[in-house]
Amino acid sequence: MATSGSVTITEADYLRIIIHGTTAFELLRTGLEFDLFEKLEAEGGLTVEQTAAAIGVEPQPARILLLGLASLKLLDKQGDKYVNTPIIRRKVLRSGERFLGPLIDIQAKIINASLVDFAESMRQNTNVGLRHIEGPGTTLYERLTATPDLQHVFYDNMGDASEKAFSQFLSHYDFTGIRHVIDIGGGDGTNSIELASRYPELEVTVFDQETVTELAAERIEDPDLRKRVHFHAGDLFRDSLPEGADAILFFHIFEIWSLERNTELLRKCYDALPEGGVVLVYNFTCNDESTGPMSAGLVSPYFLTLASGEGMTYSAEEMERSVLDAGFSRVDRYSNLGFSHALVVGHK
Ligand SMILES: C[S@@+](CC[C@H](N)C(=O)[O-])C[C@H]1O[C@@H](n2cnc3c(N)ncnc32)[C@H](O)[C@@H]1O
Repeated sequence: MATSGSVTITEADYLRIIIHGTTAFELLRTGLEFDLFEKLEAEGGLTVEQTAAAIGVEPQPARILLLGLASLKLLDKQGDKYVNTPIIRRKVLRSGERFLGPLIDIQAKIINASLVDFAESMRQNTNVGLRHIEGPGTTLYERLTATPDLQHVFYDNMGDASEKAFSQFLSHYDFTGIRHVIDIGGGDGTNSIELASRYPELEVTVFDQETVTELAAERIEDPDLRKRVHFHAGDLFRDSLPEGADAILFFHIFEIWSLERNTELLRKCYDALPEGGVVLVYNFTCNDESTGPMSAGLVSPYFLTLASGEGMTYSAEEMERSVLDAGFSRVDRYSNLGFSHALVVGHK
């Protein structure tokens, strides 16, 4: 029974969920595909027969879906009706406090198929799982430029995750006095747009691959933001960074690359900044002991197997060391933030 944010299961069932992980995931994803949870909520619960009619399948397959979801403690049963549990209401209903639909979508359409290559990626120390995605280049980000549909799935999730984590970032860093920010690997512009909205004097430049900057530009309608949010298409490794910024956002970039490559990129940021300029490194982290949290443990294989073939979630201490190794003279470190994030501010 899911109550007050915790679910109690036996060790055997815990292992069962891992072993049957694909089935457990498909039960949840299929519930979403059939809009089951929304329908259960709207009707105040449904019987097997009512569910079958509501989602347009025979009673037997409807029963299998309901049984599976109830066994995973995602549905409860009240009388002969299945109803949503609190966790489904909070995270799987579109109106919930933290709708996880975009995450489930990216897992289903981009990530899961590649993870069968995790062991081989470990042996070769590269992203063997990239073979499941067509397109140019040696990273997922390059491959996605060839498939706009998948690119949308990727940025729907990335933008959603960044939006949630961004307000907490703003409570740790005040941009007053900063004139121009470069958002490197700025993606669909979620962070830049939010930043420019909060600071009406600020200029922001999103630096990313060309198709990505196009995607970001399409999102801005407000004429004032259009004047202050700029786009610079380029390659992080081959091209120079735009000049004239006094702060650089390095958001959800650190976990993509090896520590050596991060130090190289941060050195490039250092070179592009004036004296007194800052780099803001903000991303998912693991704890100092490398024992968790679970979000860090479960996302790291994706960076090795698919995204880049070299990254993982690092500790805040490793972020700090990299920033110092890149030449920054002083750092402020904010560890253990919400969403398993840390922020390291490097001052030139
Ligand atoms: C994980 S996303 C982060 C997006 C954004 N910073 C955020 O926090 O939502 C990484 C971004 O880095 C960009 N990127 C990866 N490799 C790149 C490269 N070689 N040159 C330019 N951009 C790159 C990708 O296109 C992608 O938008």
